[in-house]
Amino acid sequence: MGPKQSKDDDTIDGDPNVLGPHMFKMGRVLGKGAFGKVLAVTKKDTKKTYAVKLLNKIRVLERQSYKSVLTERKLLSVIECPFVVNLRAAYQTETDLCMVVDLMSGGDVRFHLSKEYFFDEERVKFYAASCVLGLEYLHTRRICHRDIKPDNLLLDENGYCHLTDFNISVQYTDAKPTASNFAGTKPYMAPEVWQKQSYSLEPDWFSLGATLYEMVVGRVPFYIEPFIQDPDSALLKKAILEDKPHFPKRLTRECMSFLYSLLEKSPQKRLKLPGVKQHPWFKGYDWEKIANKTAKPPFEPNKTKANVMGIHDLEEQLGEKPKVRPLTDEEKRCFEDWNWVRENAFDDNKALATQVGTSTTAGTTSGSTVFHDKDKKGPIQAVSMKLNIADDSPKAAQEVPVDLIEDDIKPSSPRQADLKQEVEATPVANIGGWVTNVATDSRKGSAPKDVKKDKKK
Ligand SMILES: Nc1ncnc2c1ncn2[C@@H]1O[C@H](COP(=O)(O)OP(=O)(O)O)[C@@H](O)[C@H]1O
Ligand SMILES: [Mg+2]
Repeated sequence: MGPKQSKDDDTIDGDPNVLGPHMFKMGRVLGKGAFGKVLAVTKKDTKKTYAVKLLNKIRVLERQSYKSVLTERKLLSVIECPFVVNLRAAYQTETDLCMVVDLMSGGDVRFHLSKEYFFDEERVKFYAASCVLGLEYLHTRRICHRDIKPDNLLLDENGYCHLTDFNISVQYTDAKPTASNFAGTKPYMAPEVWQKQSYSLEPDWFSLGATLYEMVVGRVPFYIEPFIQDPDSALLKKAILEDKPHFPKRLTRECMSFLYSLLEKSPQKRLKLPGVKQHPWFKGYDWEKIANKTAKPPFEPNKTKANVMGIHDLEEQLGEKPKVRPLTDEEKRCFEDWNWVRENAFDDNKALATQVGTSTTAGTTSGSTVFHDKDKKGPIQAVSMKLNIADDSPKAAQEVPVDLIEDDIKPSSPRQADLKQEVEATPVANIGGWVTNVATDSRKGSAPKDVKKDKKK
């Protein structure tokens, strides 16, 4: 039998049958998240490797993010998709919230871009197709990822691309079919998000456009030189709202057209599903092979090397200590709903949807991919929700005007200062003594009162 789902924080007491840190051997640092490190781990009994994302509880409380991290955990627990970094379990220690996810040993796309500057078109098309399938899965469940960027695209050992980091994602409901808050990472954020207009799923297509553009050109489409002062990102905002993207002439016209249509300012006119799969750039593309993961990835990550940036090790050596202090009872209650174990999470015979073959099958019906549940009950959560997206995207592929085509565009990293994940909370209302957000985005709740008292000390 697999590990039990722990109640409250009994993992801390070390019950050997309850999922907890005692079951894993900690390995090297893979990356740095907003609230802590991501580590490679080995499950002691099966010797299988995973990644564990640690979120320091004090940091989560200090940044008033306990609601958003819980939303990420809850959202991930209903997601199982071959193009997402799937969550297997969540447990906690006295100091950290921990998420056990599939290990993506190929590293993140930012890491590869920093070494290679840009990728060839076929490789970018392959990542684009994986992202389209991942977004198709999310969007049919009315989930807007809101933070598509190279840092949040991870490669598995074979070179398939997976979406990760659902920290600022939002799932719409009939009662709340849109959002309007400022959320994302600035160079990848759609015009409607900058303008705080009401939006649905369209921002993800713009962010995907900016991400793929960066992969194939070597810099973000709306780029502000580092030596130019832009303290409140006003120039970046203006460029995203007003400028047209330029393209180096080495790209095929189809590729330019694809990116141009994703980077469309108007959310209605922007390329999206289902048109995105029928775009001429994907002409003759075997979507089913991608969906089934039987296509050979154009780039195979180096299996003999850790595909991570050295800086993390350095920081580790320098000893960035996680914050520690005892939590109050009220603070502990913020994390009551954290623990969770996916059914068969660590059962070797029942692979998660991330793995090829065995348990998950995908097929294409009338141009849309259907992922089947591993228990063969049919498509995961039959999806027939009305999306209510006005689709005014042009039916024929758009030609990129010649004046936007340049001899060359020099690769360059986006400005470091703009790469911070942003999420703006909406006005707060006091509910039953707890200060909670209302309206469009209820996830960034304020900390309970005694946390605030602590902070004043
Ligand atoms: N499953 C994983 N396998 C390998 N590396 C990972 C994994 N998850 C995260 N990472 C690394 O850690 C970084 C931060 O993780 P992420 O989930 O994006 O955290 P945050 O929400 O704080 O940005 C990623 O950019 C990536 O480099
Ligand atoms: Mg991230």
